[in-house]
Amino acid sequence: MPGLRSYHSFHLSSNCDSLLVFEDVEQLQSALDNTSHYYLLGEGSNTLFTEDFTGTVLVNRIKGISTTVTESAVCLQVGAGENWHELVTFALKQGYHGLENLALIPGSVGACPIQNIGAYGVEVANFIESVDYIDLATFTQKRIAHDQCQFGYRDSIFKHTLAGKVVITQVNFKLPKNYKPVTTYGELAVLNQPNAQDIYNEVIRVRRKKLPDPAVLGNAGSFFKNPVIGLEQYQKLLSIHAEMPAYKVDKHHMKIPAAWLIDKLGFKGRTVGEVRCHPTQPLVLTNLGHASGEQVIQLARQIIDSVEQQFAITLEPEVRLVAKHGLITL
Ligand code: FAD
Ligand code: EPU
Repeated sequence: MPGLRSYHSFHLSSNCDSLLVFEDVEQLQSALDNTSHYYLLGEGSNTLFTEDFTGTVLVNRIKGISTTVTESAVCLQVGAGENWHELVTFALKQGYHGLENLALIPGSVGACPIQNIGAYGVEVANFIESVDYIDLATFTQKRIAHDQCQFGYRDSIFKHTLAGKVVITQVNFKLPKNYKPVTTYGELAVLNQPNAQDIYNEVIRVRRKKLPDPAVLGNAGSFFKNPVIGLEQYQKLLSIHAEMPAYKVDKHHMKIPAAWLIDKLGFKGRTVGEVRCHPTQPLVLTNLGHASGEQVIQLARQIIDSVEQQFAITLEPEVRLVAKHGLITL
């Protein structure tokens, strides 16, 4: 049974019945022809295999980057199996700007539209012109334009109508040439007239300081999404917790940092077996070495229950949990 420890960043010691790496659409097709039950994987930085998976893990390694330069923009057509951070670094080196706030986010290019990866004031949706995918019902190649992708905070059509129905093969980016650095996020606001390289460097510095390196300490980044709540509930909570941080989403909604809620409840550093709530960023759960899927679920449930009891907010996992038969919910 192939081991999955090195195929996902939380590094649980789970196995699967078989594992196939595909580098092009033909290899994908032949893998699918020989598989009835499968899980599609990029680099596994948002997936935890909580049990042995009774099926085939299909690993996307479709490579290739091509560039088209127009008068006003640079367009990049990128294979879904390219590494995200390497793409950001490549773009910067070529003088194509915009992606630098998203430096050092682990994972594949193919997964970036799925949860619309975001960090330091920027979401990848800002730069996605279209996404190419294989429609698994007909095995035909299709293209979906940005406007149809229903991008939102950690959200897109690939988590809803198209969930489980497509394999993303290429993402098409458009980086406008009239580059303006985005320095709205806390730590970047201190930079004085930064260029793209300065932002890239600072984002990497801050991320290395705040987030554990999965190569050293298994983790999947933020375990939960930051909850968005209605204004009325926000006002009510604020009257009890005057110091509660929040960001405006729109006229009627506020986003609360889940890290603050979890921190407030004293979870920092708490362990269940070998799973720990990270001491400097409690939104991240880590594998101290020999964690089990059961321990992950136990700690995650404790956090969800406590936050619900104390704040009447239901935290939703950002990560995908894959058990014996496939995806599970908490
Ligand atoms: P995987 O975990 O392999 O897959 C994720 C989901 O996408 C699965 O459901 C999978 O089936 C599906 N999928 C993967 N590839 C394809 C494809 N080609 N076609 C169709 N479906 C596919 N995320 C952020 O948004 N911002 C951050 O700042 C951030 N920081 C992180 C920091 C750390 C240390 C870690 C470990 C993770 C962080 N993440 C962050 C989460 C993660 O990096 C992203 O979710 C990333 O896009 C996952 O890519 P992946 O290839 O590893 O996805
Ligand atoms: N906070 C605490 N205690 C802590 C740490 C943070 O109370 O120990 C509070 C503070 O108020 C802080 C706030 O939480 O200002 C936000 O913390 P941080 O800036 O670290 O960001 P985050 O909301 O925890 C989000 C994303 C990250 C992304 C960063 C930077 C989500 C779920 N997470 O984290 O994405 O890198 O902002 O933009 O939206 C990921 O998705 O995996 C991920 C790491």
